[in-house]
Amino acid sequence: MSSHILVSIILFFLSLPVIFLFSSKFLVLTNFPFISSPEADDLYLFRRAAATTTHLTTATNPKPKIAFLFLTNSNLSFAPLWEKFFSSDDNRHLFNIYIHADPTSAVADPGGVFHHRFIPSKKTYRSSPTLISAARRLLANALLDDLLNQYFALVSQHCIPLFSFRFVYNYLFQDNLTSLTNFAPSQSPSRYQSFIEILSNEPRIYERYLARGHDVMLPEVQFRQFRVGSQFFVLTRRHAKLVVRDTRLWKKFRLPCIAVQQCYPEEHYFPTLLSMEDRAGCTGSMLTRVNWTGCWNGHPHLYKPKDVSPELIRDLRVSNSSNYLYLFARKFSPESLLPLMNIADDVIFRDK
Ligand SMILES: *[C@@H]1O[C@H](CO)[C@@H](O)[C@H](O)[C@H]1NC(C)=O
Ligand SMILES: *[C@@H]1O[C@H](CO)[C@@H](O)[C@H](O)[C@H]1NC(C)=O
Ligand SMILES: *[C@@H]1O[C@H](CO)[C@@H](O)[C@H](O)[C@H]1NC(C)=O
Ligand SMILES: *[C@@H]1O[C@H](CO)[C@@H](O)[C@H](O)[C@H]1NC(C)=O
Repeated sequence: MSSHILVSIILFFLSLPVIFLFSSKFLVLTNFPFISSPEADDLYLFRRAAATTTHLTTATNPKPKIAFLFLTNSNLSFAPLWEKFFSSDDNRHLFNIYIHADPTSAVADPGGVFHHRFIPSKKTYRSSPTLISAARRLLANALLDDLLNQYFALVSQHCIPLFSFRFVYNYLFQDNLTSLTNFAPSQSPSRYQSFIEILSNEPRIYERYLARGHDVMLPEVQFRQFRVGSQFFVLTRRHAKLVVRDTRLWKKFRLPCIAVQQCYPEEHYFPTLLSMEDRAGCTGSMLTRVNWTGCWNGHPHLYKPKDVSPELIRDLRVSNSSNYLYLFARKFSPESLLPLMNIADDVIFRDK
């Protein structure tokens, strides 16, 4: 083979991603390798979920529930701690559990309240829109499964609860403010907003806006509309439906990044969509504490067994920057389970 032909072949392959990228701007239906195509099953699921009712209208007026959405690609190491968390529900059954587990990582069914709570799942990759798809699949399944699901809390295998279920329920629904008397009234949430972090002034946000190429996000998302926030949120039913109904922004956020270092689609899609559609319906801050001090390569501080103490739990609950408490925290190493179980009854689930 002459070196000319070889160079041409190499150039052709190098230009493929560029052709791919530009063609996406003109074609309405383009399939990308990162998102399992053509997503027909997901689209059908999302459409049905978006058509469910938002408000409870039954004559008996049952109590609303919280849907806990576990997004994982490994075993749920903290299942025993969550089991204790849910047992503070006092058999009122005011929760449902849904698990999206990467099918390639052989996640075991932890049994107990988690038994058979796995939803049909697909492979997820870091720095790719597959994490958005997984969260939307969880929301859709929970929307369809139970009309009483009125709040949707997304957590991961590294998340732990910082309070009892009873406390979390009362905090979200303001069901029983007597149990909140330890905290200032200003720390009670206003009624039925979504708890999602929405930030616009982060360093590198412009680079992240450009991660898919120049002008690729236009016209749907202008830079001044682009937001960042944690992927872990607690959404109202109205907003969960808004998310699964969306096709307009998803069409852009599902595109692959060319700047892989700036690629965190799941940290942008949800805050951008909700701030564009209903900023007033969102608190703008989240309920899941994370420690970015001394973070490395996009990973936050990982708490180890030696870090676990009653003081740590109490520290993590209180926020500097918002009027809200933190109800959950991440990331904890799997080995932290034992010391956490040791303080579960006396500290974590006693809400003090
Ligand atoms: C999950 O736990 C099961 C046993 O309960 C084990 O066989 C399996 O290898 C674990 N999977 C991972 C990904 O660690
Ligand atoms: C509300 O608080 C009161 C007093 O602490 C308690 O007796 C009651 O069981 C609580 N109700 C609910 C639904 O948590
Ligand atoms: C956050 O992480 C840093 C280390 O990265 C640690 O020194 C600090 O104590 C942590 N803060 C809290 C509140 O746990
Ligand atoms: C809270 O504020 C103090 C003082 O401003 C600061 O040192 C600390 O790092 C802050 N903690 C968090 C979690 O932001």
